[in-house]
Amino acid sequence: MVTAFQRRVSFCAVIASVLTAIPLAIGFSAGAGPALTGAPSGNGAGCNACHPHETGLGSVELIDVPRRYRVGNQYDFSVRVSDAEKLGAGFEISVEQPGGGSVGTLQEIDMANTMFADGDTQFIAHTSTGVANSLANWAANGGSYDFAVGWDAPATDVGPLTFFVSGLAINDGTAFSDDNYYWTFSTAHYAIPGDADGDTDIDLSDFAVVQQCFGGGRPVAPFGGGWPHAPVECAFLDMEGDGAVGALDMESWTLAMDGPTATSSAAYVLASAVRGGRLYDQWWSESNVAPPTGDHPLYPAVGVKTGRTTFRCKECHGWDYKGVDGAYASGSHFTGIPGLFGSAMSPNEMFKLLKADSVVTQNGHDLDAYGMTDRDLWDVVRFLKDEIVDTDDFIDPDGTFPGDLGLGAGGFGINCVNCHEADGQRINFGTALDPEYVGTVGANNPWELLHKMRFGHAGSPMPSLELIGWTDQQIIAVAAYAATLPVD
Ligand code: HEC
Ligand code: HEC
Ligand code: HEC
Repeated sequence: MVTAFQRRVSFCAVIASVLTAIPLAIGFSAGAGPALTGAPSGNGAGCNACHPHETGLGSVELIDVPRRYRVGNQYDFSVRVSDAEKLGAGFEISVEQPGGGSVGTLQEIDMANTMFADGDTQFIAHTSTGVANSLANWAANGGSYDFAVGWDAPATDVGPLTFFVSGLAINDGTAFSDDNYYWTFSTAHYAIPGDADGDTDIDLSDFAVVQQCFGGGRPVAPFGGGWPHAPVECAFLDMEGDGAVGALDMESWTLAMDGPTATSSAAYVLASAVRGGRLYDQWWSESNVAPPTGDHPLYPAVGVKTGRTTFRCKECHGWDYKGVDGAYASGSHFTGIPGLFGSAMSPNEMFKLLKADSVVTQNGHDLDAYGMTDRDLWDVVRFLKDEIVDTDDFIDPDGTFPGDLGLGAGGFGINCVNCHEADGQRINFGTALDPEYVGTVGANNPWELLHKMRFGHAGSPMPSLELIGWTDQQIIAVAAYAATLPVD
């Protein structure tokens, strides 16, 4: 069996082969090497395996990427790198499942600006012309550039799959330093033929869409539960695959109808628990919106924090999801507020509570008023329902991780080291006077370390080990090793 950690060999081989080509300026003239999309294929490695680690106020975005794929369909979308402080860009994309394996088929639909990375068809990256064009058009585009990418969905239902993308915002076509690195991802689900609204059943609410799409019409959103957060396309109702919804499709749809069986709204079905975990950390950083100002109305007088931090889920409910019953039982993060581990609320109840006005509804969080979108809220609800764990299963009562240090060193060496270096000290999360490194977090806040390893650090290119598909045992081992690193 090949474990995730054993793939180190092939990853290093890639780096080695890429490095030998450096006089040819691989990163520039021939796209980047493969497996640099912060994905399972590269164990989370990104462009900053070589490029300096800086990250700025820009972003990499997936524009019009499908959130539901229909077997046999072709999708065109674009990768946008933006950064007002930079002058051009490069990128790389892959479509993968947890644990590795690319899915579907990437297509070079813009041969001038994009190419398969080192000829590997699982990855598309920029060409030198693409970089030159990004530099030439950057200012006119308001400090950004779009690279067009095509992707053909797989021939069968392979379950959820994820688009992983790295973006590098650069100063010119040659300077290697001072680039800004960005990363993002988007998960797409299989679209059951006939299920127009994406809630997993085929019922009368879908029939309403059949009627709208019939004979070439277009669906109108919003239209009932879940929309407009679920992408609604007539393509999901074109049962015959002839490009239009007609009488034969209507007949096949009637045969496929299985009644109202869905237990959740489409918006919840299609939400991303991993993105939700990153929002739980600091939602405005992850969704790239202005931070809230003032204090959150639910933040109690007994608490000593003020300002934006009082809007972070973790500030009131804890990194261990246990609130006053966990690590925040005392100290500077004490609020007396309970945790969310074991909450009996349904997804709909949670969503409503997070949106409800705090004056009108008891404990209403009013978070939409401060800048969270419905999609953000569904993602965080999905995280609460799917990914909250009992941290006692990962961390011993004395705050240590019961993991194998040898296994952990291996995992740290193929993932974390790319950005944090072998001693975990490349990035200082604290201040010059009061530095904080990976080892410091490991020693002082194992719950935060665990959360950030599983989901990544909000708004940063730090990838998610859950998305990469590492097992709990592997995660515990890397955390145990990380906690042995120097604290200052
Ligand atoms: C194995 C090391 C390595 C990796 C990994 C790597 N690059 Fe590069 N890249 C280089 C080197 C070296 C240069 C400098 C070439 C020069 O100056 O002529 C470069 C240059 C570039 C440039 C143009 C010069 C500039 O201003 O920085 C772009 C754009 C670029 N890389 C994009 C990427 C992207 C996007 C990725 C990730 C998908 C990536 N690179 C990953 C080594 C790498
Ligand atoms: C300023 C403090 C504060 C912040 C920030 C905060 N909450 Fe809460 N939350 C509360 C309080 C107070 C309650 C009610 C607890 C009680 O039942 O006594 C609560 C309750 C909840 C509940 C209901 C749990 C149950 O089973 O009753 C959920 C779900 C929830 N919060 C999710 C979140 C999420 C997700 C975020 C971030 C997007 C968040 N909260 C941010 C204070 C906060
Ligand atoms: C692709 C780059 C990248 C990789 C890989 C990566 N990180 Fe990070 N990590 C970051 C960035 C960027 C930050 C945010 C730094 C900041 O706040 O300025 C961060 C933040 C953190 C923090 C949070 C510190 C704090 O107090 O906010 C911890 C802990 C951490 N990383 C540990 C790890 C561990 C352990 C691994 C390996 C499993 C890892 N990281 C892999 C880039 C990365």
